[in-house]
Amino acid sequence: MKRIPAALSSRTYDVLVGRGRLAGLGEALTLSCPGGRAVVCCDQNVAPLYLEQTRSSLRASGYEVSHIVIPAGEAQKNLARAEELYGVLYDRGIRRRDTVVALGGGVVGDLAGFVAATFQRGVRLVQVPTTLLAQVDAAVGGKVAVDFRAGKNYVGTFYQPWLVYVDLAALDTLPARELRSGAAEVAKYALLSGGELLDRVARLAGGPLTAARVTQELVAECVAYKVAVVAADEREETGARAVLNLGHTIGHAIEAATAFSRYTHGEAVGLGLRASLWLSRRLCGLDAREEARGQALLDGLGLPRRLEGVPAASVGDLTRRDKKAGSDGVGYVLLDALGSPRLEVLVPPRLEREVVEWLLSR
Ligand SMILES: NC(=O)c1ccc[n+]([C@@H]2O[C@H](COP(=O)([O-])OP(=O)(O)OC[C@H]3O[C@@H](n4cnc5c(N)ncnc54)[C@H](O)[C@@H]3O)[C@@H](O)[C@H]2O)c1
Ligand SMILES: [Zn+2]
Repeated sequence: MKRIPAALSSRTYDVLVGRGRLAGLGEALTLSCPGGRAVVCCDQNVAPLYLEQTRSSLRASGYEVSHIVIPAGEAQKNLARAEELYGVLYDRGIRRRDTVVALGGGVVGDLAGFVAATFQRGVRLVQVPTTLLAQVDAAVGGKVAVDFRAGKNYVGTFYQPWLVYVDLAALDTLPARELRSGAAEVAKYALLSGGELLDRVARLAGGPLTAARVTQELVAECVAYKVAVVAADEREETGARAVLNLGHTIGHAIEAATAFSRYTHGEAVGLGLRASLWLSRRLCGLDAREEARGQALLDGLGLPRRLEGVPAASVGDLTRRDKKAGSDGVGYVLLDALGSPRLEVLVPPRLEREVVEWLLSR
């Protein structure tokens, strides 16, 4: 397996990336979380696919294994569900040296991670991400949270796992739309890092997007990019971590303007990346050919080309309500060139409107 070490101030752990390696989870876990009990948390879609294999691997390595299955979907990421999980851990007498194994997409990772971070002030946590989005993004970096009222990820903390164990074979059962959604985050890393990763993602975009074409190298390079950013700004204090918001200011506004129903997160981020490329050409001197290369990358990954179902004004209004908005405009992450991000670029409201109109009219 490929090993990406994450040396953070709060914890040092490995992200392991392989294909068809779920049976090796238990053995890998004995190195970072020896002994004790393991509680596997997953959703109803993942349970029939990967729960038994996960349980038997852990059992074979000597863990006393139990599990919790929750319904699937973002609506589960709330305090009521967290409280139910606390109840299960309490009833089973889980202690700090026991391990919560979050098996699933970002919803399970964030929820089980939040519960692990707060139950008895923190039990051991292992992320076993099964969506592309979680493998390259959500499972890495230590952000755990639940949604609260209208606020996404409003109640949460930073809590690094003891191990992140990525099995690419899980992507074989992922619905195509979810795979594409994860590919938007992959495109984000490609645009941010340029170089070899950009070439690799361009090759992926050059053919049909299938799980089999998502390679260990590709996922490992995305993870390595995120780990390096997180290491420089583990708790989002220095501002370095903001680079990961490329495409997300407009992406989040699109999700909110469409009531989180029309687009998946990745699709909205894909549109946000398109807008970032367009703005980068106008505000940061991004070369027109590079902009075109970026747009073609998003085309090739099957991400939406055009924004539908929202008035231009609502997206602009929402970006200005963004946490990071100042009075002269919103601070965006843009690109001077592919592979060369610039932080805190002020985008005047007029240009923000124009880019949304451009997205609407393509
Ligand atoms: N903590 C972070 O840094 C971070 C970063 C990005 C996103 N997130 C969070 O991640 C969540 C989105 O994650 P997601 O896109 O993985 O969504 P998800 O967890 O809802 O998974 C998407 C769907 O795929 C199903 N599924 C998962 N793995 C599968 C598999 N291998 N085969 C078949 N079906 C499978 C799930 O049951 C679900 O229906 C959001 O809540 C977001 O806030 C967190
Ligand atoms: Zn994202």
